[in-house]
This record gives sequence, structure tokens and C-alpha cells, in this order.
Amino acid sequence: MERFEIKGENKLFGKIEIDSAKNAILPIIAASLLSTEDVKLCKIPSIVDVSKMLQIIINMGGKVYRYDDKVVINNSTISSFELPTSLSKELRSSIFMLGPLLAKYKRARVPFPGGCDIGSRPIDLHLAGLRDLGVKIEEEHGYINCDGRNMKCGLIHLDFPSVGATENLMMASIFLNGETVIHNAAKEPEIIDLANFINKMGGCIYGAGTSTIKIAGVSRLNSICYTPISDRIITGTYLIAAAMTGGKIELTNTNYEYVYSLIKKLVNSGCIIDYKNGKITIESNFRLSACSFETQPYPGFPTDLQAQMLTLQTISDGTSLIVENLFENRFNHVPELLKMGAKIVTRDRMAIVKGVNRLYGAEVSAHDLRGGAALILAGLAARGNTIVNNINYIDRGYDHIEDNLRLLGADISRKS
Ligand code: EPZ
Repeated sequence: MERFEIKGENKLFGKIEIDSAKNAILPIIAASLLSTEDVKLCKIPSIVDVSKMLQIIINMGGKVYRYDDKVVINNSTISSFELPTSLSKELRSSIFMLGPLLAKYKRARVPFPGGCDIGSRPIDLHLAGLRDLGVKIEEEHGYINCDGRNMKCGLIHLDFPSVGATENLMMASIFLNGETVIHNAAKEPEIIDLANFINKMGGCIYGAGTSTIKIAGVSRLNSICYTPISDRIITGTYLIAAAMTGGKIELTNTNYEYVYSLIKKLVNSGCIIDYKNGKITIESNFRLSACSFETQPYPGFPTDLQAQMLTLQTISDGTSLIVENLFENRFNHVPELLKMGAKIVTRDRMAIVKGVNRLYGAEVSAHDLRGGAALILAGLAARGNTIVNNINYIDRGYDHIEDNLRLLGADISRKS
């Protein structure tokens, strides 16, 4: 298994261009099923989850061409409404295929997506929304069999603004006659990007980014060339890295509004942050003040930055209270940080962090994607050497993060 070896206490200086967002690309790849013409995507990073999603398309009979950071998908050769089991069970995002398969074939058979290390990840909201559209659903032997031959437009109310459920239901209703309305929809930037992608192919989706989304059915979608939005979680990860190590970095191809909840916290803690024209610059030279926060659906503080921000609190001045409202098991990084000298107590969805002078290098293991990224940040700031094991988790969402960090002056290398 590969690992990262990090020698800590190097300050970070320099400039990094942010990749396109994993959580925009994955539903967009699913939405490519809605067209039988070429779908060209640009600035696509080489991350594992994207490669797995494209492999599912290939396993279904679609054509995928990759060159440089571009991907061309053509699904005119796909004729089955059944997801291949092997990869689909491995990749939670395979559930995004449910909506497009129903839209295209009025049928779908997909394996129940597993949970993962951060929680059970149920899909009851996806299925309840599809039932609101008249889909008959049977769950048997780990499969979900959907019969959408009597699907019709309708009004859906989500009990919780689920990102995946919002995206699946937008895609499921795209060819239905009439107007479908989703109330209490998720408002994440990736929802807006999916709607922009579909509308550019000829769709009619209004209100994405608000809690009420309207989808006017169309008869077909066309070819497209599209560049997804930048990755706000990668942006936040680098901002917190610089806050932890000290130094000054500039991030380009980004959007400060996507991470404004984090920027406010970092500025209140003592960082100097400037943002304009798609760039964010952060400078941090002093010990920062601790801050409390709790994760919320967008535009609240993102759950995908909780682990990284908690790690910053371990070396900030004071005590912070952190509440993880989105997932029931998203403190897997805490036991690893304790090995590095952090002072943290957790109970259910709460963590209390008492800032210490410094962390010390240790051998630690990643248990999930964002928790693994947080351990890298801890190693960058710690005194001595840190080994981060199980970095396959991190490669799911960061494209060779060590290369960018080395460009900024970090002493980090990948070892097998
Ligand atoms: C998306 O997951 C992201 N993944 C996650 O990012 C992100 O953490 C999450 O949204 C929240 O922002 C992708 O976009 C590929 P949800 P998703 O449905 O759609 C509960 C990362 O690190 N829920 O908004 O699965 C659920 O259990 C990943 O990049 C139900 O109860 O998130 C959770 O508590 C991790 N029933 C809450 O809602 C459902 O049917 C939020 O889930 C669906 C969700």
C-alpha cells in the first residue's frame, strides 16, 4: 500500500491552480447518459472516483476517450438500463446513474450503493422523490428495480436538502412532459453546475442554487463541450494547509464565494485573505485563534472541510467546539491526530479541541477521503516526520496532492 512521508514545519509559498470539482464531475458524467451525442469535458483531473465512474460508462457499452485533461463520452451504443455490479457497489456515486437511466429507458436496475467510512449513506430520499414521480420501486437481494413506465411530472418535497437526491431527481425528470418541482432542494454550487451543463445540452432547469428547482421537460439533449466548476473542497484544503504551516499562497481558477463560510472563519482566526478575479491569496504568520463551527448544507460550513478545519484547531490558541451535522461517523481522523499530540474529545457528533503548541510527527492512517487529507495537513505542520498510510482514500479526490504541495515548498513524497 502506498504512503506519504512528510517532514513537517516547512512554510508554504507559491501559486496553485485548482482542478475541476469531483462532486460536479461525477453527476455530470452520469448526466452524459441523457445524450446520444458527443459529450466533451475539459479540465478533468486524474482522480480515482472519476476514473471509476467513466469505467462504469464503458462497462455499460459507452465509449470514453481521454487525452490530457479532456474526456469525450459517447453513449449512443448503450442499450441496457442495468448498472454493472462490480464497480457500482464500490463507488457510491454510481447511484447518480439511477435518474438518467429512468429518464432514458423508463427502467433502471442498480445495486444498492454501500455505505462508506463516514456513515450509512441511505438513499431513501432519492427513492421517495422517484415514487412522487410515479416510479414503482422494488428492493430485492441488494438491488433496486425501478419501473418508470408510468412516470409523470410532479411536485417533490425533500425532507432534507440532499445533494445526491436533488441531482438524481433533476436528471430523472428531464424528459417528462410538463413541469417537475423540487422543494427543499440542495443549493450547493455543484447543483448549479449540473443544471448549467444540462441546460447547455438543451434542458430547461430553473432555480438551481435555490431551495425550489423547476424542471420543464424536453424531448432530447444534444452534444456539448463543458468545463465543470473548480473544486471548492480542494480550495479549502489548501487554504487550511497554509493557515496551519504559515506562509503565503495564491490559488487560481477558484471562486471565493464557494468557500466564504471558511474564509470568514480563517480571517476571524487571524489569517490575511484577499480575493478577486478568480484568485484567493492567504497569508498566515502568527499563531491563530481557535474557532468553533458546525457543518451545515450549503452555504453553511461544508462537511467536506470539517476534518481539515478541526485539524487546524489542534494547533490554534484556545478551545473549539465542532459539531458534524451531516454524517454520523465523520471523526475517523481524531484517533490519528491524538497520536500526533492533539488534545481532542469526541462524543457522538461533537468534538472539543484544545489547542496545543505543536503536533509531533507520527505514523498515522487515513480512514476516508477528507480525513486523510487532514492528516497530510497535520504532517505538514508537525515537528518531525509523519507517515500517512492508506493514501488510496486520498487519491479518490485529490490528483497527486503531493506534487502541488511540493511546488509550495512542502517536504512530502509518495512511497510504495
Ligand atoms: C454529496 O454526497 C457529496 N458527494 C459528499 O462529498 C458531501 O459530503 C455531501 O454531498 C454533503 O455535502 C458527491 O457529491 C459525490 P447528501 P451525498 O445526500 O449526495 C442523508 C466527498 O468527500 N441522506 O447531501 O451522498 C445522508 O446520510 C463526499 O467529496 C439521507 O438520509 O450527500 C447525510 O446525512 C463525502 N437519505 C445527509 O443526508 C438520502 O436519501 C447529506 O447527504 C440521502 C442522504
